[in-house]
Amino acid sequence: MAKRRTVIAGNWKMYKTVSEAVDYAGKFLEEVRNVTELDIVLCAPFTALSSLKNELEESIVHLGAQNMAWADQGAYTGEISAQMLLDVACTYVILGHSERRELFGETDEEIAKKVQKALSSGLKPMLCVGENLNVRAEGKAAERVSTQVSRALTGLSIEDLRRVIVAYEPIWAIGTGKTASSKDAQEMCASIRATLSGLMGSAAEQVPILYGGSVKAENIAELLAEPDIDGALVGGASLDPLSFARLVHNA
Ligand code: G3P
Repeated sequence: MAKRRTVIAGNWKMYKTVSEAVDYAGKFLEEVRNVTELDIVLCAPFTALSSLKNELEESIVHLGAQNMAWADQGAYTGEISAQMLLDVACTYVILGHSERRELFGETDEEIAKKVQKALSSGLKPMLCVGENLNVRAEGKAAERVSTQVSRALTGLSIEDLRRVIVAYEPIWAIGTGKTASSKDAQEMCASIRATLSGLMGSAAEQVPILYGGSVKAENIAELLAEPDIDGALVGGASLDPLSFARLVHNA
């Protein structure tokens, strides 16, 4: 069976103007131009995507967005469609990030519709799932995350499921400096893979599962040493081009 490729994705969240993004791209590309053994993705704010398309053209760095609408086009004020993301050379889109779920009320049902739209449009969805501290304290973390995965992905063909990336991001580890221990992260990623097996059988072995939550250059290698952790979705530590490049080199 082919080995899963490592994916290192930066999620800039609501940081960086166009000029800051362009400046970043130049410095980052300089540092990572010889990296071939893993997939690098920059998930930038919508406003910076078009300029980044030009900066990253023909480079090894892929472009991603942080959200999109489930509709194709129409009277959806403030929304961005899959076609608009493809138009600016995005290949990935983060969907269901806990900040979208918690601060903007996105439901599992909406996220499922977005995943379907991303797939039918040719984008690779990075589906984010994760539990909060209360759920973890109740011992229900695996159950919560399994429900999120099932609700987002049930009904998809195996062919579609093969193009999905899942990111396990425990809410209590995001932006807090508290990384899940690599053992806990592995346990959750293995349980996500078991849920995926229920949906797609042995093809679940090919789905990249990323960990996100206070990942830095210092802890990436330990996380990646775990058998079911195939990469990272990185917030704060992706904001500086040189630090993020260091993280990529340590991966
Ligand atoms: O999507 C990435 C994320 O939420 C983790 O953020 O800042 O803890 O790396 P951070």
